[in-house]
Amino acid sequence: MSEPILRAEALGKNFGGLAAVRDVSLDLSPKQIHAVIGPNGAGKTTLINLLSGDLTPTTGRVFFRGIEIEGHALDRIARLGVARAYQRTNIFAGFSVFENCRLAAQARRQPGIRLFRPALAYRDINDAAGRAMALAGVESRATDRASDLSHGEQRQLELAMALATEPQVLLLDEPLAGMGPEEASRIAALIARLGADLAILLVEHDMDAVFNIAATITVMVDGAVLASGTPQAIRADAAVQAAYLGEAA
Ligand SMILES: Nc1ncnc2c1ncn2[C@@H]1O[C@H](COP(=O)(O)OP(=O)(O)O)[C@@H](O)[C@H]1O
Ligand SMILES: [Mg+2]
Repeated sequence: MSEPILRAEALGKNFGGLAAVRDVSLDLSPKQIHAVIGPNGAGKTTLINLLSGDLTPTTGRVFFRGIEIEGHALDRIARLGVARAYQRTNIFAGFSVFENCRLAAQARRQPGIRLFRPALAYRDINDAAGRAMALAGVESRATDRASDLSHGEQRQLELAMALATEPQVLLLDEPLAGMGPEEASRIAALIARLGADLAILLVEHDMDAVFNIAATITVMVDGAVLASGTPQAIRADAAVQAAYLGEAA
């Protein structure tokens, strides 16, 4: 096993009296898809918010390449190389696909932009936007308005926008939600391809997709980790079957 790129160590998050995340430890390895599954309310989105820096943990720590990132500002975590696609869309509807990707690329680079000659920085940002569109499969839609895209294509654009920041870790919260079977398998295949180069944390309810593309699966119930392991081990786990997979397995 290679060294983890992102590590959660005994993370906890309380909302008032509710422990939404309890003592969750998890390692993301480079170039691997790590799925987090569990029933609604299990704490999956809260976990992503803790890893992205959108929320500050009540207890525990987060490390990026061995460096603690707890307490760091959100944009700094993003610049370290952790990107997320939001469950709710973050797209500027009236802008083109390319412009949305450029804005995403620029947001990450802004602080360092003085280091470059302006023309070079401009080209750099355009190149990053172009690469991200190609990776996410929205290149052919580059000049179309975001509002003209189908639901599935908008999710692809969200992926492209996350990729435009050139992350090393991608956090995805239910990227297949609301999709028909064809779109879902298209986006799942895309995520699988991205997983060849990136560490991906994938929260998803589509069990076919999860068991097909994840190298590791962590099951959360009531804020805590119930089990973690390979898809085969998770499928065979009696506690997981009883608590969650039950009918599905
Ligand atoms: N900002 C918040 N304030 C209070 N309670 C919250 C907040 N966010 C989530 N919760 C609660 O924390 C628990 C876990 O929620 P969440 O992380 O969204 O679960 P999941 O994504 O697995 O469905 C739920 O009981 C939810 O109601
Ligand atoms: Mg959620």
